[in-house]
This record gives sequence, structure tokens and C-alpha cells, in this order.
Amino acid sequence: MRLKIINGPNLHNIGKREPHIYGNISFNDYSNSLKTIFTDIDLSFVNSNSESEIVSILHDSDNLFDGIVLNAGAYSHTSVAIRDAVSAISVPVVMLHISNVYARESFRNNNLIASVCRGVITGFGIKSYKIAIQSFID
Ligand code: DQA
Repeated sequence: MRLKIINGPNLHNIGKREPHIYGNISFNDYSNSLKTIFTDIDLSFVNSNSESEIVSILHDSDNLFDGIVLNAGAYSHTSVAIRDAVSAISVPVVMLHISNVYARESFRNNNLIASVCRGVITGFGIKSYKIAIQSFID
């Protein structure tokens, strides 16, 4: 199985960024540990701070992967373009948030992308990525 993990804006520096919310493990270290856990899955990771780039990554991933794990960061709350890209492709997308967006500011309750995703995982810290990957197994 081939899975692509897409991280959106400001997620390149988790581990440093607001550690009380996002934890203190760098994504690089965490992604290496995911590779040792899911040895049977071909995992690839990409990070982008750009909305248009995320749209292109989604389209370019169509038919090449069995699933996509998407943390669109702040674009989750604003981006019709990313929502339309998720809708347009046939690869199933599982959305995730590290933090529990429903326990934070009210603007984070609005998610434009969630309803076109296979499912949403939110609030389990960095472990949310592991749960999202597990959701594609079976
Ligand atoms: C986030 C939650 C978003 O509201 C925020 O803008 C992020 C990270 C999360 O993983 O908890 O950048 O997607």
C-alpha cells in the first residue's frame, strides 16, 4: 500500500511551534518512527506552506496512492480550493488535526474540507498521524 502524508502551512516546525498545543517532537523524527512502525506501507511525506501547491500535490497524487493523509493546517478552515481538489480526485483522503480544533478558538470549528474526506481525526496529538495511517489498514 502506498500512502502520502501531506502537511500544510506552519506544520514544518512542529516540535518548536506552540509545544503546549502541538508537542515537542519534530515531524522529521516522528515520520522516521512511522516508517519503522509501518514497514509494509510505502509512506511518503510532503510539506507545503502554499495553498496552490497543496492543490497541485493532491491532483498529482491521484491514482498514484491508495490513500492520502492530509493535515491542511489553517487552510482547513478557509480553503475552497483544497476542498475542491480533494473532491476532484479519486484517492480517499483522511483529514487530521494534531490538536482538538473543537476545543480551541471558534473559527477552528469551521472545516471546509472535512465533509469531502473519508474521515477526520482530531485531537490525539502527533499520534493522530499513526491513527490516520491505521485507518487505511483492513
Ligand atoms: C492544525 C489545526 C489548525 O487549526 C491550525 O491552523 C494548524 C494545525 C492541527 O494539526 O491541529 O496549523 O491543523
